[in-house]
Amino acid sequence: MSERGLAGGIAVLDFGGQYAHLICRRVRALGVYAELQPHDTTAAELKAKGVAGVILSGGPASVYADGAPGADAELFSGGIPVLGICYGYQLIVKARGGEVGRSERREYGRAAVKVLDRSGLFDGLTTDQLSCWMSHTDAPTRLPPSLKAVASSGNSPYAAVRSADGRLYGVQFHPEVSHTEEGQKMLANFVLKVCGAPREWSLEGFRRRTVESLAALEGRVLCAVSGGVDSSVTAAMLHEAVGGRLRCVFIDTGLLRTGEAANVREFLGVGLGIDVSFVDASREFLEALTGVTDSEEKRRVVGRKFADVFEEFARREGPFQWLAQGTLYPDVIESGRSKGPAAVIKTHHNVGGLPEGLSMQVVEPVKELYKDEVRELGRLIGLPQKVLQRHPFPGPGLAVRVVGEVTPDKLRVAREASRIVEEVVEEEGLYRKVWQAFAFVGDDRVTGVLGDERRLGYQVTVKVVESVDAMTADWARLSPEVLERMSTRVTNEVEGVVGVAYSISTKPPATIEPQ
Ligand code: XMP
Repeated sequence: MSERGLAGGIAVLDFGGQYAHLICRRVRALGVYAELQPHDTTAAELKAKGVAGVILSGGPASVYADGAPGADAELFSGGIPVLGICYGYQLIVKARGGEVGRSERREYGRAAVKVLDRSGLFDGLTTDQLSCWMSHTDAPTRLPPSLKAVASSGNSPYAAVRSADGRLYGVQFHPEVSHTEEGQKMLANFVLKVCGAPREWSLEGFRRRTVESLAALEGRVLCAVSGGVDSSVTAAMLHEAVGGRLRCVFIDTGLLRTGEAANVREFLGVGLGIDVSFVDASREFLEALTGVTDSEEKRRVVGRKFADVFEEFARREGPFQWLAQGTLYPDVIESGRSKGPAAVIKTHHNVGGLPEGLSMQVVEPVKELYKDEVRELGRLIGLPQKVLQRHPFPGPGLAVRVVGEVTPDKLRVAREASRIVEEVVEEEGLYRKVWQAFAFVGDDRVTGVLGDERRLGYQVTVKVVESVDAMTADWARLSPEVLERMSTRVTNEVEGVVGVAYSISTKPPATIEPQ
């Protein structure tokens, strides 16, 4: 929270879009505090909070559907500046007397947008041809006289609009996702120029306030660490806040990448002087996963096992009043745990997986933040580059990189092939340029030849993606030589693999992890 609450900040009204909170994160990157608010917050309430502007998020509903979330019509009267994104834009059009209809073709992914008027949102752009990220089925089909089209796309003459007084804006695409060219510039134009919001928010301030509030926790804290940046930052802030009342535990689930425990020892133990206990629970996790094929069930099984192991540890070494985790916001939103009407994409093990009735209360100090913000926080705390730049790794680990049942053999293939893919990416100097690089495996067996003999073997899929915040992702355009090296090494070095494929899916519609 900002010390002044939302005064001078931006309220983002939440219509349930996957990117609603990402808008807040983008606005914070401009140094302006932003917070999600319920979609039915009234104009009078927002004025009373002193907001500088309002952004209406996207959402999965159709504006004409029964029970579709609406907004206070007073918001569109030209008082507080308003920017509507996708569904939010369609609400503005409807409220102002225009029409919204179902597009002939759904637009998902990149679309070419032509800017018709380089003022307002598009002030200072160096080009009028932009590649923007779309994710919609409905679109405005007729504009009211009070709104003017300021951009068009192949699918719509009204890709963006503004009102004559420059207080109301609408865009059919998503300026908040990193794949929209100049999207941040558009948000900066709205927040800083149209709304005139003061730049008063910083991660250093967030860190100070978080450590202060953690210091006020009563009792002992158990912190789950994985060697990744999120849990390391969580542990480091707790270490500063509660000192000797903190105990960290690293659980070997048997689903990890190679070398995780050694990293934790080096960075948290030696580097920060934090006391970490190591628990080997790999047998228990594998047993619990036997026969489980559904990906959501896998996440729940892993979440429950984590909870069992924490409880067992707490019984032995406790009591602990708090269980701390490095949950990030994308985990919260994709698990459908945010306060708004967002759909469940996948239950991140650390969010939806923990059962009710845990004997400890859960504390998640970075759950409002995104990966790039946590990396920046880690830099402020002084964590080494190697931890900060580490690729994300899902909590359920290789269990979600094995499609179908998790067997020791498929786990071995996913682990070894992923290590090779990461090694090649490192050798090529690409490690810091890409978001994640790994391989996954399922039950597909393809025909191969070994010597002169026919041989059925695993088909492995290599996935290397670029992303800024994991909310959207694009496949990395690796050179044929690099892909060939990965393929040759995987088939030569990983026993039982005869085929290698490269994934060229974007998110959406795919997700980054295969399960
Ligand atoms: P998806 O697969 O949803 O992943 O596109 C987005 C990012 O989150 C990571 N991920 C997880 N992290 N628990 C986690 O802590 C999980 O259950 C989980 N599932 C996915 C994924 O690696 C990617 O960076």
